[in-house]
Amino acid sequence: MQKLIDKFTAFFHTSPAVAAMAPGRLEVLGNHTDYNEGFVLSCAVEQTTGFVLAPVSGTKCTVKDFRDGSEMHFDLSALDSKPPRNGSKYIIGMLNELRKRGFKPFAFNAALESHVPLSAGMSSSAALEVACGMAFCHFAGFDISKADMARAGQGVENNFLGLKTGLLDQFSSLFGKKDSIIMSDFRTVEVIGTHALPAGYCFAVINSMKKHTLVDSDYNVRREDCESAAKKLAAIYDGAKTLRDITPEQLLAAKDQLGEREFRRASHVVQECFRVKKAAELLAQNDVKSFGQLLFDSHDSSINNFENSTGELDILVDIARQDEACLGARLSGGGFGGITIHLVKQTDAPEYAQRVKAEYFKRTGIEAEVFICSLGDGARVIE
Ligand code: GLA
Repeated sequence: MQKLIDKFTAFFHTSPAVAAMAPGRLEVLGNHTDYNEGFVLSCAVEQTTGFVLAPVSGTKCTVKDFRDGSEMHFDLSALDSKPPRNGSKYIIGMLNELRKRGFKPFAFNAALESHVPLSAGMSSSAALEVACGMAFCHFAGFDISKADMARAGQGVENNFLGLKTGLLDQFSSLFGKKDSIIMSDFRTVEVIGTHALPAGYCFAVINSMKKHTLVDSDYNVRREDCESAAKKLAAIYDGAKTLRDITPEQLLAAKDQLGEREFRRASHVVQECFRVKKAAELLAQNDVKSFGQLLFDSHDSSINNFENSTGELDILVDIARQDEACLGARLSGGGFGGITIHLVKQTDAPEYAQRVKAEYFKRTGIEAEVFICSLGDGARVIE
């Protein structure tokens, strides 16, 4: 962070008034369950996005993006226009969402940098939303709960950018805890448990480097499928509101009343909620082997039920299955490309990651990016 502060000072010839940082996240288990008010195991990673700012008079804002050296300029009136094409859309979107909650936008010079890989499925956009949101609110003395800050970030995606995502990304970036996997309930919007990763284990993150071009619309269509299945099930089962309320047995019993695709989408979500609860028990018992198997099961369900995997993600998970060092692997995040997570012993991780990288290159001709991830703390303002 000190580096970013120094770069800001050199660039704008003044020191920043506030600095905030927010991490990326890994979805450990509980795929597409958040907007179904279900359960998720996730963690923040040590890769963060930093955002520093100093207020200026007038209405013109400048953001120096030290990720690529670019400069973004916008006027506060941009809050009422369509989102721009560059990364300032997340910042403008956040000002917009915070304004809806009573915050008064002001003009500023800002700088950002990030170690969260872009568009890989580690929530680089949520990290930027949360980092700038924390900086704005802290500087203005605007009181907002962490859950509402997460909702504001989700609002940027839902209302400004048209992506109907759930709360997972921003929530994990805010509530992450060092060395811990958090278990969250997205009905009550709270962390309901924290689990240490079994001693000596870590996640190797391997980026497939490929993403579908229609990720946003694919995501929204999956959400619609879940919602239409939930509506039909709610008409059958009293008190059921979302897929979170349905047990695997109830779903099976209602199979004939759902479309074939709807049934598979719902199966994924219902079973993922079930797997999350099971995984929390296994982590408490330190049963790392069975926990890992649930990651593989989740990926199978992504292939067969939710159809949000890709050939490249499947190759990565297939390589993992054939390597004894890996206890479990799956796609992580929305899917349709991006990253896979691989549960391995810390001591095996560097060599394992290189083996997977080499085999992936052999099978696809693609150079994968690998990270050995440590689980980090949630977003914070640096005093
Ligand atoms: C993306 C979304 C999240 C969540 C995951 C899938 O990361 O932003 O809200 O739905 O996909 O679990």
